[in-house]
Amino acid sequence: MSEPVVRPARPEEVTRLASIHSQAWNVDPPRYEPGEHDLSASRVLAIGDEVAAVLEIIGREVWFGPDRLGAVGLGGVATAPEHRRRGYCRRLLQEVMKEVRDQGKVLSLLWPFSYAFYRRLGWETGGLQLWVTLPLAALPRDIGRGWTARPVGADSPADLAVLDDLYSRWARRFHGCLVRQPEDWKRRLQHRNERRFTYLVCSPESGPAGYVTYAFRPLPDDWRQLLVREFVALDGRAHQALLGLLGNHDSQAQRVELVLPPDDLLLHRWPDRTEATVRDGFMLRVVDVKAALEGRSYPGAEDGELKWRVRDELCPWNDGVFHVAWDRGRCAVRPAPAAASWDLECDAATLSGLYAGKLPPQAALALGRLAVTGDRPELLPWLGRCLGGRLGWLQDFF
Ligand SMILES: CC(C)(COP(=O)(O)OP(=O)(O)OC[C@H]1O[C@@H](n2cnc3c(N)ncnc32)[C@H](O)[C@@H]1OP(=O)(O)O)[C@@H](O)C(=O)NCCC(=O)NCCS
Repeated sequence: MSEPVVRPARPEEVTRLASIHSQAWNVDPPRYEPGEHDLSASRVLAIGDEVAAVLEIIGREVWFGPDRLGAVGLGGVATAPEHRRRGYCRRLLQEVMKEVRDQGKVLSLLWPFSYAFYRRLGWETGGLQLWVTLPLAALPRDIGRGWTARPVGADSPADLAVLDDLYSRWARRFHGCLVRQPEDWKRRLQHRNERRFTYLVCSPESGPAGYVTYAFRPLPDDWRQLLVREFVALDGRAHQALLGLLGNHDSQAQRVELVLPPDDLLLHRWPDRTEATVRDGFMLRVVDVKAALEGRSYPGAEDGELKWRVRDELCPWNDGVFHVAWDRGRCAVRPAPAAASWDLECDAATLSGLYAGKLPPQAALALGRLAVTGDRPELLPWLGRCLGGRLGWLQDFF
């Protein structure tokens, strides 16, 4: 049998890719419609002439607070059933990590089918999602004195510029939001299987201050639920205005479902006895330890240094000891290959969770995912202050 080879997909393989995807997600029509799909984003693992596994690369930058980091989203990861559990997906991911690291990407993001599957390969949960369903009757009906609301057109470049400005200002609160491209906006505002509506709210003093994108879902009892796909408010008054706008759909729907960052102001506004569900969100992987650590700022960091032993089978360039020094909110990293001892030791997934600020170092220690050597009781609280301070959030799907 031929050796597996990882390479870009070829135009004549479109039908094969379509059949792998439609089987994997039980979808019809297939994702790969001729002329619609950018094949340059697909990587396949082939055995001879036969494609066994495929994935798509979405090259983007992500906001990490005020910093923009080179990242790659992975989507459409699938192995044909007859080729599963032979290590092909793992091999494909490994080769793709090598390729994107050579292009200067420092992080990888994805939405997993299984957290455990990707954790073993070095990805870790980057943030949590708060899912809440409220009766529309519980929301205000008033958008606020002097405030206005208007629909925005996905085809209007001026409107898209306004949305992009609001979104980009809001996204800098988090670790992980995409720096959006026009095609990302298209996907968010106009979904192929869902009629979406987007409204902007404007303050009387400062103009555009938030927007909401939503759709309707029929309920079994012949009634409808509003699904909020995006809820972006720059401040508390914009938040109230958006809720008021949604509340004015009580003639069209009974309930509203929102998926929000876990620090959303709604937590402090909602009616009695509201229940919410917390779910794992996107996963993140550090593709290049040195470049990722050096590429962002650390507003909560106090100066200091440590030696960090990282174990990373999938990305061997990360496997080793790094001397990491924080100085005035930035970080300098030197490989220390000859180091015989270190302060911290963990695998790539743990490093990724720590880097995202999602996994506190003391929790990683308690879970047995981080080993500490030497006697530095201040080390973990200090590292937590260096890396933490922002929630992970990713609003785009791929
Ligand atoms: C998930 C999927 C891509 C795995 O592909 P694969 O080529 O069989 O995976 P690999 O053989 O490379 O497996 C890598 C490791 O994960 C394990 N693994 C494979 N499938 C798994 C599964 N369904 N659940 C848990 N672990 C799994 C393997 O045993 C292997 O472990 P090891 O490294 O300790 O030996 C494939 O089952 C698939 O296409 N599923 C349907 C589509 C899908 O869900 N895609 C993922 C979207 S995020």
